[in-house]
Amino acid sequence: MWRILDQIEKNFLSVTKNKNQILSCFENPALQKLNIDVQERILKITIKNPICTQHAPPLSYQKFFLRCLHESVEKFGSEYSDELMKTYTDILATTDDGRISYHSYKIDSFCTITLQEESCIVVKNTTGLQTWEAAKYMSEWCIRNPLNFDRQIVLELGSGIGLLGIVILKFCNPLKYIFTDKSPEVLKLLSSNIEINIHKLENPVIEQHQLFWSDITEKEAHSFYPDVILGADIVFDIDTIGSLVLALKILLIKESACAYIASTIRNPETNNKFLAELGTAGFIYIILKSHEKSIFAYDKSSNFILYKILKLPK
Ligand SMILES: C[S@@+](CC[C@H](N)C(=O)[O-])C[C@H]1O[C@@H](n2cnc3c(N)ncnc32)[C@H](O)[C@@H]1O
Repeated sequence: MWRILDQIEKNFLSVTKNKNQILSCFENPALQKLNIDVQERILKITIKNPICTQHAPPLSYQKFFLRCLHESVEKFGSEYSDELMKTYTDILATTDDGRISYHSYKIDSFCTITLQEESCIVVKNTTGLQTWEAAKYMSEWCIRNPLNFDRQIVLELGSGIGLLGIVILKFCNPLKYIFTDKSPEVLKLLSSNIEINIHKLENPVIEQHQLFWSDITEKEAHSFYPDVILGADIVFDIDTIGSLVLALKILLIKESACAYIASTIRNPETNNKFLAELGTAGFIYIILKSHEKSIFAYDKSSNFILYKILKLPK
């Protein structure tokens, strides 16, 4: 039963919105038709979880989650827990006071990464105020392959609000991590998220820069001098692929440097254009074997690809 409870906790804390995904957890036979004891265990790891008390997910999400639980208990015809009923009515009566809300990613029993996020896909003209699925996929790959970043200078393009970088800082021992993004709103939220998760004493050098792919200069590239470049869900707009590949070309100065780019495949045409531009710019790429996806709660319909990109040997 603990496995399915762990999944429910991860879904809830990370604000997984897919209703079928949530209902299918509740309907798992291990949960014994949601008897009273199970209902109370679910409450304890979700709404009453200390992580939720300290860094609450959006109120609208908490209401939605309890509605799903309520529906499932009703469907099974099980007896309601008084505690569940009380919690549900209390939350329904609470109005949203515009509090900041959080999404928390439980990595293991020792580490949960909590990020302030926006729930809408495009806010203030950027897609960067929420965590995208490819960032989770890439973060999981990095946790499983930490030596690629050990004592390396890592630069992230389009870093958004920081999941990938915070994971690498916590699990992969980089020498320096350079977050970059074009959007000032994104960089502001990123700063708060670094503050929430990284204690001053534990961090290596962390930098944050506003950086447009089309504007990177050779002087800037030399000042960053990265060993590894990362990007999660940054190949999504056919019109910016040219500048992204040019940015990689300028930034990959060191002979041994490489880039890792993870994408959710939505439109094969965009992906094909990216690969064609890489070839024209003199890069080769390897598709990295997909890994077991067990650390994060993923949207089951997402289809990921992770490339390692290198300069053609001279
Ligand atoms: C889909 S979001 C992905 C964010 C994050 N990597 C993640 O996966 O959660 C794309 C990010 O790239 C940034 N971005 C888009 N075009 C850019 C450009 N031309 N130069 C720099 N950053 C850009 C956006 O501001 C946004 O934060």
